[in-house]
Amino acid sequence: SLASHIGDYKFDNLLLNAAGVRCSTTDELEKTLDSMAGGCVTKSATPEERAGNESPRMKALPLGSINSMGLPNHGIDYYLKFAEENQGQNGKQVILSVAGLSIDQNIEMLKKVQESAFDGLTELNLSCPNVAGKSQVGYDFDAVRDVLTATFKFFKKPLGLKLPPYFDFNQFNGISEVLNDFPVTYINVINSIGNGLVVDPETESVVIKPKGGFGGLGGDYVKPTALANVRALRQRLDPRISIIGTGGIKSGMDVFEHVLCGADLVQIGTAFGYEGTPIFERISKELEEIMDKKGYQTLDDFRGKLKTI
Ligand code: DHB
Repeated sequence: SLASHIGDYKFDNLLLNAAGVRCSTTDELEKTLDSMAGGCVTKSATPEERAGNESPRMKALPLGSINSMGLPNHGIDYYLKFAEENQGQNGKQVILSVAGLSIDQNIEMLKKVQESAFDGLTELNLSCPNVAGKSQVGYDFDAVRDVLTATFKFFKKPLGLKLPPYFDFNQFNGISEVLNDFPVTYINVINSIGNGLVVDPETESVVIKPKGGFGGLGGDYVKPTALANVRALRQRLDPRISIIGTGGIKSGMDVFEHVLCGADLVQIGTAFGYEGTPIFERISKELEEIMDKKGYQTLDDFRGKLKTI
């Protein structure tokens, strides 16, 4: 079985799309809900509809992807309506992602969620790297504490946090200390590695237009960083906080590694962008084969059991 759960929320399959990829329209979201995925995550919403950055704003590469989308989305009302209507249908979970450009925008959207009929998981994105002039909140631990303090004064529904990749043990310790002080339901690591730069030596140029070519990296480039974040945060966070592992997943073995590091669920971004919804069936089969060979019946049989030498 590939079943898992976050708190009381049950997922028949641990695989989901990563926020941002093929999840901007109700048509895309419905396709994922109709696939083998355990549910879907909606494109991070802002209070109003946004067009996002100039194109080209995403480039597929042999080892992954770079993007600077700039939060193109249909606005919170659009995704909240979809989430209300589809959450829990056919046993599938809808995760509602919100990414305000300020603390006030986040509070405004979370108040709408609180007052709505939506009773699923909400994911507060503190790690968008692609809006010019806005830094990633997840790197400022005092700012994270401020937004969580303001949020939990009124927000009584289950909340997850999408965090940026951390690279230093002081960062793993610092963010964990903050998160353990709040009733956070889960964290999702990692968002893309922000502000990478891909160079095309042929044209002697950058490959995407916004921000002079700087953008978020996904795919093979980020897997070891993602595994490190899942592992380091699992070792530091209270057991009541679940972890979604995101980053560099394109095979059943990649999922196996994320779960060994402690992931409860996993999300697929870059590779889902390339393959579409058939990827959920392919990777499910690959993971089941690996588990069969190793004699594991459930994810609990190996979750978090990474060995050190
Ligand atoms: C975008 C990118 C992100 O990594 C994110 O978390 C939110 C939005 C974007 O560029 O649209």
